[in-house]
Amino acid sequence: MLSPIEEELIQAAKQARTCAYVPYSNFPVGSAVRTGSGAIFHGCNIENGSYGLTMCAERVALCSALASGERAITHVALVADVIEMISPCGACRQVLWELAPGAQLLMATVDGAVQRATIRDLLPFAFKLHRRDNDQ
Ligand code: THU
Repeated sequence: MLSPIEEELIQAAKQARTCAYVPYSNFPVGSAVRTGSGAIFHGCNIENGSYGLTMCAERVALCSALASGERAITHVALVADVIEMISPCGACRQVLWELAPGAQLLMATVDGAVQRATIRDLLPFAFKLHRRDNDQ
């Protein structure tokens, strides 16, 4: 059972998915993040002929929120046309860990299945940039 906030965010991610630029994989992904102010920011995957430069949907959505001055990310939704659920890639997990540490992640399929998690569930033992000389 989804809350109205979760439902709205998943719809926003579905909508964002229609903007995906995916000429190489033909695998559109949509994302939407909600912030503490209640604002919603959209993201979709944007690929590049130099494949490694591809930007994943959730990173685009997170960067859009931060570029608008938002910092408190409360929810992150991710939608793709997959059998079980779309789970963030390793690089996105590291970014989520830093930018959305307490967020509710909603990993959804286009036909309505949703799995909840937090980034702490998905990325234990994350890399932290804690230099010894910064600890004082
Ligand atoms: N992709 C995302 O946008 N998010 C993920 O969490 C996993 C992968 C994109 C990257 C690429 O454009 C396509 O899915 C296939 O890997």
